[in-house]
Amino acid sequence: MKKLLKKLSETYGPSGREDRIRDVITGELQGFCDEIFTDKMGNLIAVKKGTAAKIMVAAHMDEIGVIVTYIDKKGFLRFSNVGGVSPYILLGQRVRFENGTVGTVGMEKIKDSKEISLEKLYLDIGAKDREEAERFVKVGDIAVYDREAVFANNRMIGKAMDDRCGCAVLIRALQELGQTDNEIYAVFTTQEEVGLRGARTSSYHLNPDIGLAIDVTTVGDTPKAEKMAVALGKGAAIKVKDASVISHPKIKALLTELAERNDIPYQFEVLTAGGTDAGAIHLTREGIPSGVISVPCRYVHTPGEMIDLADAANACRLLKAFLETPHSELQQIYSCSAL
Ligand code: CO
Ligand code: ZN
Repeated sequence: MKKLLKKLSETYGPSGREDRIRDVITGELQGFCDEIFTDKMGNLIAVKKGTAAKIMVAAHMDEIGVIVTYIDKKGFLRFSNVGGVSPYILLGQRVRFENGTVGTVGMEKIKDSKEISLEKLYLDIGAKDREEAERFVKVGDIAVYDREAVFANNRMIGKAMDDRCGCAVLIRALQELGQTDNEIYAVFTTQEEVGLRGARTSSYHLNPDIGLAIDVTTVGDTPKAEKMAVALGKGAAIKVKDASVISHPKIKALLTELAERNDIPYQFEVLTAGGTDAGAIHLTREGIPSGVISVPCRYVHTPGEMIDLADAANACRLLKAFLETPHSELQQIYSCSAL
């Protein structure tokens, strides 16, 4: 898990530019599924064929970034956000474009720190003028945080743990999956950070019986954090609700029972803001019962996102147990009974 997570975290892949990360994930899945394909929105879909319940598991492979909007005469680049990028976090960071060009984030002189906004920031790629800058970067190019992933005790710090951590959990679960008749669609989705877009179209296409997302969630265990019950290292988080979805009560109940039965440490998650791919999946067609397994993560949407490797391993165990659940048990979740 460690090596895989480091590789996934360090790979370039902002929303709408997922080619590289998709290639890396495709490589990891060779030999572990019956079919693998990319759809029109760029989602990577790995299928394990079966005759029982159709389960879609989504982990988004895109990450947040900045997109170039304007290059001035002196060669400085102005930019807009791709997903939830904070100007306070960006300041002083280093970012990297797909072609390897590195930029440092500078700021105009301001009087008050409250004035910090994306409009006051610019990228400096070391170019002496516009002409030189344009040889490396064009308007519309997207850069991501340039950050090596490192280990700190049993924890990992890096960019894009959101949601390469979920991708790693899903890859490992497919590689280690036991016997099951369920038909499994592992979907590495695109454009989650800009509005759950890849999950929306792929769930319509696949039309699963059950939806599950694997994503990170924020925690309440850091100094003066918001009151929140989730803590790093305390196990896989079973989502109850966020701003995009109320987990189907039967899925939440099944995940809880599976965690209890298999001695998997778990915690309940209520996230007051933010969403996941399950937000799009559960509203597909006539509705798809959906839930989420989350990996607790500190400093979400910063280059220093931190997860605990034991939480990721426990999320993986819980996912495997869910995917191996007998058809009869899963059917009770999605079959409508006539009164
Ligand atoms: Co995110
Ligand atoms: Zn995410």
